[in-house]
Amino acid sequence: MRLGDPANPSRNEIWAVGGGKGGTGKSFLSANLGIALSHRGKRVLLIDADLGCANLHTCLGIDYPEATLSDLLKGRIKRIEQAIVPTGIPNVGLISGAQDILEVANPKHAQKERLLRQIQGLDIEYIILDLGAGTSFNILDFFLIADQGILAVLPEPTSIENVYRFIKSVFYRRFRKVAKEDAVKEMIALAMDQKNEFGIKTPYDLIEQVARMDPGVGEQLKKEMYSLRPKLVVNQVRSKDDITLGFSMRSSCAKYFGITVEYVGYVEHDDHVWQATKRRRPLLTEYPASNAARGIEKVAAHLADHEQLTIDYLVGTALRR
Ligand SMILES: Nc1ncnc2c1ncn2[C@@H]1O[C@H](COP(=O)(O)OP(=O)(O)O)[C@@H](O)[C@H]1O
Ligand SMILES: [Mg+2]
Repeated sequence: MRLGDPANPSRNEIWAVGGGKGGTGKSFLSANLGIALSHRGKRVLLIDADLGCANLHTCLGIDYPEATLSDLLKGRIKRIEQAIVPTGIPNVGLISGAQDILEVANPKHAQKERLLRQIQGLDIEYIILDLGAGTSFNILDFFLIADQGILAVLPEPTSIENVYRFIKSVFYRRFRKVAKEDAVKEMIALAMDQKNEFGIKTPYDLIEQVARMDPGVGEQLKKEMYSLRPKLVVNQVRSKDDITLGFSMRSSCAKYFGITVEYVGYVEHDDHVWQATKRRRPLLTEYPASNAARGIEKVAAHLADHEQLTIDYLVGTALRR
C-alpha cells in the first residue's frame, strides 16, 4: 500500500497479525516473525495491540514493562520511543500491550491516527502489530493500517470459518472508510447483516449492488478490493492436507468472494513450541533448528520479499497426507 509509493515515502513497513479467534498463534507468530526479520539484519519493533489481553512480553520472556501502549494512547507519555523496551534480542524492541482494558480497549479514531503517525516516524524497518481475537472495529482498523495484513489460520473448521468472517469484515470496514455517500454507507451497513434484504453475501455482491446505484463508486470499491491482499499463514500443520488448506482457501476467496488472498507459508505443529513457551523463551532463540522455527523463517522471507507459496512446495515436504 504505502510502501514504495514515491508520493508518500514511508521509512518502515507495518505488519499486522490477526485472524479471528484466540489461540491460532498470533502472538507466537508475531514474536517469532520479528526475530526472523532481525536474523535478516532488520530492526524490528513488536507492538502488542491485543488491548486488554496483552501477553507478548511473556512470549519474549520479559516482565510486564512499566510503560505500555496504554500510556501512549492515553497521552501519559508523549513520545513513542519512551514506550519501547528492549527484549534481550538484538534489534528487536517491544511496546507492551495495555492491560487495563476498560479505559483503552476502545481507542478513539484520533488516538489511533496519532499512534500511526508516531509509528511511521520511527527509524525502524519493520513494525509488527499483534492483534487480539475477534472482529471488533479496532482490530479491523489496526489490520487495515498495516502494509501487510497477516491471517493466522489453524487447519480446523472453526478457525477457517473465523478467518473467512474476518476477511469479510475487513473488506466491509475498508469500504465503509472510503465510501462518502450516505446511501452507499447504508448499503455497506446492511451487507454486514448476513440476512440482508438484498441477498448480499460477499464483498463481491456488495460491489455489484453499489455499482447498480453508482457505477463510479462501484469502480472505486473494486479498486480497493484488488489493492487489499491479506496474507495467509497456516499454523500447526500436521499433514500435507493441512498445507493444501492454504491453497484451497486462496481459491475459495477468489471464487466466492472475488478477493485475492496470498498464501505465504505454513508452520508445523511442533512440541518445541510449548517447550519454549514453558521456559518463557521465544522458539527462534531457543530451538532455531526446529521444524516450526524453519517454517517461520520461510514465512518471514516470503513476506519480506513479497512472494507467495507455489504448489511445488508440496513436493519435498516430509509430511504425509
Ligand atoms: N506451530 C505450533 N506448534 C505447537 N504449538 C503452537 C504452535 N503455534 C502456537 N502454538 C501454541 O498455541 C497456543 C496459542 O498461541 P498464541 O500465540 O498465544 O495464540 P493467539 O495469540 O492467537 O491467541 C500457545 O500455547 C502456543 O504455544
Ligand atoms: Mg495473543
